[in-house]
Amino acid sequence: MGDTLLSLRGLTKRYPGVVANNNIGLDILRGEIHTLVGENGAGKSTLIKSLSGSVIPDEGKIVWEGMEYTHITPRLSAQLGIAIVYQEHCLVESLSVAENISLGMKNTKTIFPDFKTYEAKAQDVLGRMGVNIDPRAKVSDLSTAEQQVVEIAKAMSKSVKLMVLDEPTASLTSGEIEMLFSLIMKLKEGGVTIIYISHRMDEVFRVSDRITVLRDGSVIKTLKVSETSRAEIIALMVGRELRETFPQHTFKSDEKALEARNITGNGCKNAGLFIKKGEIVGLAGLLGAGRTELARMIYGADPMESGELFIYGKKVTITSPAKGISQKIGLIPEDRKHQGVLLNFSIEWNTTLSLLKKFSFLSFLHFRKLKDTANKYLQALNIAAPSADSMVANLSGGNQQKVVLAKTMATQSDIVIFDEPTRGIDVGAKQEIYQLMTDMANSGKSILLISSDMAELLGMSDRLYVLAEGKILGELERNEATQIKIMTMISDAMTASTANFIR
Ligand SMILES: Nc1ncnc2c1ncn2[C@@H]1O[C@H](COP(=O)(O)OP(=O)(O)OP(=O)(O)O)[C@@H](O)[C@H]1O
Ligand SMILES: [Mg+2]
Repeated sequence: MGDTLLSLRGLTKRYPGVVANNNIGLDILRGEIHTLVGENGAGKSTLIKSLSGSVIPDEGKIVWEGMEYTHITPRLSAQLGIAIVYQEHCLVESLSVAENISLGMKNTKTIFPDFKTYEAKAQDVLGRMGVNIDPRAKVSDLSTAEQQVVEIAKAMSKSVKLMVLDEPTASLTSGEIEMLFSLIMKLKEGGVTIIYISHRMDEVFRVSDRITVLRDGSVIKTLKVSETSRAEIIALMVGRELRETFPQHTFKSDEKALEARNITGNGCKNAGLFIKKGEIVGLAGLLGAGRTELARMIYGADPMESGELFIYGKKVTITSPAKGISQKIGLIPEDRKHQGVLLNFSIEWNTTLSLLKKFSFLSFLHFRKLKDTANKYLQALNIAAPSADSMVANLSGGNQQKVVLAKTMATQSDIVIFDEPTRGIDVGAKQEIYQLMTDMANSGKSILLISSDMAELLGMSDRLYVLAEGKILGELERNEATQIKIMTMISDAMTASTANFIR
């Protein structure tokens, strides 16, 4: 670690009703990995957007290698050697890997795209990173993890001094996170300075040299990782002591709320499962194991080829989400940007959209009731926004995710599928979500939980099913489920299927 590469002095950015960054003072040392932590809406993304040029600060200075700037344009940001991998993916899905990596690169010789050069360049970068992705593959055909790697490759194809990663692991599984970490270490060895943003405390403590805590737009403290603890960081973030435990779940019933038999389609083969009334059932598996696909068929979002569904013992046919909802099934999707919310509508509208029928009386909407419902969730989930009238597009990433949760939780479904509910959610709000889920189960609702966060899955589930390659490998009761058991089941199944394939 060396001299100061970048200093922010008194950086302030206001939005109507919020001060997103308030008089920020921060030094980033050359060669360090500096992590920013803070609750959803604390101002992390806004801060780094000042470095990319997509946010112009209202006040303050950015000092880069001794040069002072009041703001940075996107062009200057690139010239200085700043590369940013955003929280929300910014790849063009219909283009190839190579085209995405080369996007924005100047092509001086001709006005026509030079695919051969793009591919060679992309191959070179991917090779240096030690990853095996075909530069000609279309981005829409890649897994989330691979897309993330392409984002980083895109950033690395330019010569960078500072790499900013805004929650890069939110949608990755453990194996993929390891790959990302080794990439980050390679960058660091190559002398690149890194600003890292994450809500996952174990990661923060693994990669960081120093940690800066933000709260309500202000810097609370910068600490060396060797001189602090997880508990201290969390307390600084939320401004109070917080116990990281899972709430008590007491409801017991033997009645089956939902049963799925022999579900085939959407990549799944003969999948069977049931959820009892008041039970929280987890689905464990790696990315691409078919968990989301199975859930979407149960909800009616994707068609099943064959199989049977029973709700409280009664056979039902669900061919659309509307039918799913009418059978009182709710789904909280993993992909908030594409399926979860209407970005250009208010929090209130998003939260209460599915309630409009219930609260309309002689086509007169009970505006009061809608507002009350929206406000209830705004408070319960601690959504950081000036009011329920705020547009969802203007919320921070984690707060948008909370609106997705509120929307489905407000529908009063009996059976609720949570697909990666806490992705990108801060530690404090995670606890609130666990409590809300437990309250739902304790009141007799049934929950299907899909999560790549092992601690969450093991901590919340009464029972869980393990999936790989679209098949259910088995089920584990709460008291017998461990991470090692789950991983062993999965790797045994994968080895067996590879062996079959070779034979
Ligand atoms: N374009 C905008 N218009 C209005 N308000 C905004 C805009 N962008 C951000 N904000 C507000 O600024 C605050 C800080 O948001 P920011 O995205 O920086 O939070 P964050 O720390 O990155 O949170 P998360 O962990 O959820 O990603 C939030 O209250 C957010 O609603
Ligand atoms: Mg953010």
